[in-house]
Amino acid sequence: MDHFNYVDGWLHAEEVPLARIAAKVGTPVYVYSAATLTRHFKLFQQALDWTDHLVCFAVKANSNIAVLKLLGDLGAGMDIVSGGEYARARAAGVPGERIVFSGVGKLEPEMRMALEGGIRQFNVESEPELELLSRVAVSMGVEVPIAVRVNPDVDAKTHEKIATGKSENKFGIPIARARAVYAHAARLPGIRVVGIDMHIGSQLTDLEPYRQAYAKMAELTRALRADGHAITRLDMGGGLGIPYRRDNNAPPLPIEYGQVIRDAVGDLGCEIEIEPGRNIAGNAGILLSSVIYLKQGEGRDFLILDAAMNDLIRPAMYSAHHDIVPVREPAPGAEVAPHDVVGPVCETGDTFQKAVDLPVLAPGDLVALRSAGAYGAVMASEYNSRPLVPEVLVSGDQFAVIRARPTLEEMLGRDTIPEWL
Ligand code: LLP
Repeated sequence: MDHFNYVDGWLHAEEVPLARIAAKVGTPVYVYSAATLTRHFKLFQQALDWTDHLVCFAVKANSNIAVLKLLGDLGAGMDIVSGGEYARARAAGVPGERIVFSGVGKLEPEMRMALEGGIRQFNVESEPELELLSRVAVSMGVEVPIAVRVNPDVDAKTHEKIATGKSENKFGIPIARARAVYAHAARLPGIRVVGIDMHIGSQLTDLEPYRQAYAKMAELTRALRADGHAITRLDMGGGLGIPYRRDNNAPPLPIEYGQVIRDAVGDLGCEIEIEPGRNIAGNAGILLSSVIYLKQGEGRDFLILDAAMNDLIRPAMYSAHHDIVPVREPAPGAEVAPHDVVGPVCETGDTFQKAVDLPVLAPGDLVALRSAGAYGAVMASEYNSRPLVPEVLVSGDQFAVIRARPTLEEMLGRDTIPEWL
């Protein structure tokens, strides 16, 4: 459920008409609903209320500092993968004790930054990383709590580019090697083993891969404890999918996911961490765009928008589907016709969706691309020298620009011409 609904014939974000935001901020623009973010975060809190837990929002899904502050103020932890994300989480007021550091390629300065500023745990993905982390910690005179990310070799049954839990993926340590790696970790100075981490992929629409992975996690917890390690935390990763289409079967709910965790590891007495990103932010955002032209092609009609693949890359990159709806509610029984909805960027991949049934629209009319709150703005670029798309946060009847659209001067001002040119 989200808070983007038609009220009196116009699509609203909570109580704010999207047309009002377009008039004030211009388009394209991302619009997020604070009530939806809050609701989704609380669903995960409730799903784990049977035990000590920390819901760590995966910052990569939406890293706007205002969004992070909203979630942080509700008690969220943060799952970060870079020094930049660490800085954003801290700027949002999230304390280091609630920040988990994931990622396969952590750099030494990033390690230092997190150790200086405070960190809950590092999710270590390889032995070279473990050794570097040990050296850095010793040089700073600190001890780092770590979990090792274990690759359970489970098929997450999702898009191949976002599956991470198969043995051929670059992530984690093969589960067969886990005991040896933990033994190594326990011998390293500056390292304190506290838990196990797994993340098998994103946009999972079936709980079965989780069941398989978490069964392996439970077994490994017992084996590691028998080896003498104090395993007190289990990081179950993120990945629970969201409905991208209103009309198809919805993926499992957070409460059902929480039950899968409980069934698998509930008897181990561990604190549970999860790292949902998409499920909290995805349906809490839309990309609001204006129609530039209607163009008749050979046997098809194109709707050319002012949003493009540089603003929302998911359709071009993963053939992802985002529902596209007019902001003016179509009258019941209004005539619709199929349109290929495209952006202005100079490649054919700049197509949001083909043959979308839409009512008659005119230049200047507004459309919303739904489910764009996760992996939308964060993956935007300035391709074709289009300034980065701005972001707006709505709460009730108020809204605020939480990232301004850069001016052309700002965009150009980052380049410099060497004096010898
Ligand atoms: N934890 C780790 C270690 C991750 O790598 C990810 C996502 C998450 C948590 C959060 O997963 P979520 O709950 O959001 O599914 N750009 C792609 C998605 C990439 C996901 C990468 N890792 C997309 O637009 O679909």
